[in-house]
Amino acid sequence: MAARSNSVGSFANSMQEFESFRDFFTSATLTTLIDLPFAFLFIAVIWMLAGPVAYIPLAVIPLTILVSLIIQIPLGRTVQNLFRHSGQRSSTLIETLTGLETIKSIGAETPIQRKWEQTVGFMTKFSQRARLLSSTAVNFTSFLQQMATIAVVVFGVYLITENEITMGALIASTILTGRALAPMAQLAGILTRYHQSKAALQSLNTLMNLPVERPSGREFLHRPEFKGGVEFKKVSFRYPNQPVDALSEVSFSIKPGEKVAFIGRIGSGKSTIEKLILGLYEPDEGAILLDGTDIRQVDPVDLRRSVGYAPQDVVLFFGSIRDNITMVAPFADDKMVLKAADVAGVSEFVNRHPSGFDMPVGERGEGLSGGQRQSVAVARALLLDPSVVVLDEPTNAMDNSTEERFKAKLSESLKEKTLLLVTHKASLLSLVDRIIVMDQGHLVADGPREQILAALKKGHIKVSKG
Ligand SMILES: Nc1ncnc2c1ncn2[C@@H]1O[C@H](COP(=O)(O)OP(=O)(O)O)[C@@H](O)[C@H]1O
Ligand SMILES: [Mg+2]
Repeated sequence: MAARSNSVGSFANSMQEFESFRDFFTSATLTTLIDLPFAFLFIAVIWMLAGPVAYIPLAVIPLTILVSLIIQIPLGRTVQNLFRHSGQRSSTLIETLTGLETIKSIGAETPIQRKWEQTVGFMTKFSQRARLLSSTAVNFTSFLQQMATIAVVVFGVYLITENEITMGALIASTILTGRALAPMAQLAGILTRYHQSKAALQSLNTLMNLPVERPSGREFLHRPEFKGGVEFKKVSFRYPNQPVDALSEVSFSIKPGEKVAFIGRIGSGKSTIEKLILGLYEPDEGAILLDGTDIRQVDPVDLRRSVGYAPQDVVLFFGSIRDNITMVAPFADDKMVLKAADVAGVSEFVNRHPSGFDMPVGERGEGLSGGQRQSVAVARALLLDPSVVVLDEPTNAMDNSTEERFKAKLSESLKEKTLLLVTHKASLLSLVDRIIVMDQGHLVADGPREQILAALKKGHIKVSKG
C-alpha cells in the first residue's frame, strides 16, 4: 500500500505500454537490423566489380547513421514528454469517469475539461513533433540514398569512358548500391520505435521493482487460528511523503474478547490504527502483535482472514450483493452468508428486493445507499467469523432504528470476539467496555468506558482544540 501509485490512470497506462514494448520485438522493422551486415557484403562486391565506386555507398552509410543518431536526441526527449502526458491523460480520464457524479454535482466540469484539453493538446504537440523528427530522418536518409545512386552512375560513366570498368559492372554497382543502402532508410524508423520501447520499458521496470507483499524467500508463520489479542508497542507511523506522523508512540494491549472503542477528533489516527492492524502499512517504529506474534511474521492472507475489517470508505464492486459479501471467500455457503447478512442488516433490504441476494450492485457500489453499502461491508467483515472484528464508523450512514437493530445483533454475535470499533457516535459506545481516546496521533486516554466518559465530561482529558 505504501508503494502504490498516486495515479491509477498512469499506472494503467504503463500496463498498456507492455504492448508497445512487445510490438518492438515482434515488428518487421527489427528484422532489417539483420540486413545491416549484408550492406557491407554488397559494398565488397561493388569493390571487386568497379573498384573506387564502392567509396560512394561506404561514405553514405556513416552519414545516414550520423543523421539518425543526431535526430535521436530531440526525439528521445519528445517521446519521454509524450509518454508523461499520455499517462496524465489516462489518469484524468479514469478520475473523471469514476467521479462523474461528484464532478457534475459540484459543477467542476470546466476545470476538468480544461485539464483534459490541455493534456490532449500537449500530446498532439509532442506526437506531431515526434512524427516530424522521425519522418525528417527517414526522408533525409532516402534523399542520401538517391544521391548515392546518382553519384554511382555519374562516377561509373566516367570510369567507363576511361575504360576502367565495363557497362555490366556499372549496372551491377547501381543495383547493389540500392540494396546496400535500403536498410539504412529503415534505421531511423527503428530508432524511433526504440525510443518508445525504452520509455515503455522504463515504466515497466519501475512497476516490476515495486516491493511485493510476499517477497519470495521470506518465510511467513502460518497461523490459521488467532485468539484475538492485539497489542501495539510504541508504534509510530507516517504516511509516505507526509510531513507529520499519523501515529506517534501508540501503545496499548487488548486481550482476546475485549471490546474497545477508539474515539477522537477527525484526523487523530483512528483509521490509521486499524489499517496498521491489517498490515496494509508497516509501522515505521515499534511493533504490532497479534496474540504475541509480530504481524510482520504472519502471512497476510492468514492475517486478513482472522481480522474482519469494514473500512470507513466502503468500496463495493460490480456484481450481486452475494458476490460482494463472499468476495473474500467464494467457497462460503449460504448459511454463512445469511448469518453475516443478518447481523449486518443486509437481509432487511435484500428481502424487500425481488432478486434477493442476487440484487445487482453497480460499479463501486452504485445503486445502493450509503447505509446499505456500509451494511454490505460489515457483512463482508463478519463472513468468515473472524476472531478480531475491526469496524471503522460502521453506522455513520445508517438511520437510528437500523443502527439499534444492528447494535443488538452485533453484540449478540460478537460475544467471544475481540471488537475494535472506531466511532464518534455515543450511541454505539454501549457495545464496548473500554475506550481509547486518540488525539493528533497520540493516545491520550485509555480506560473503562464509564471512567473515560466521566473524565471527558469533566474535561479531565486534554485534547487539542482545533
Ligand atoms: N492515505 C493517506 N495518505 C496520507 N495521509 C493520510 C492518509 N490517510 C490518512 N492520512 C493522514 O493521517 C492522519 C490520520 O488519519 P486517520 O487515521 O484517517 O484519522 P481518523 O482518526 O479521522 O480516522 C490525518 O492527518 C490524515 O491526513
Ligand atoms: Mg477515520
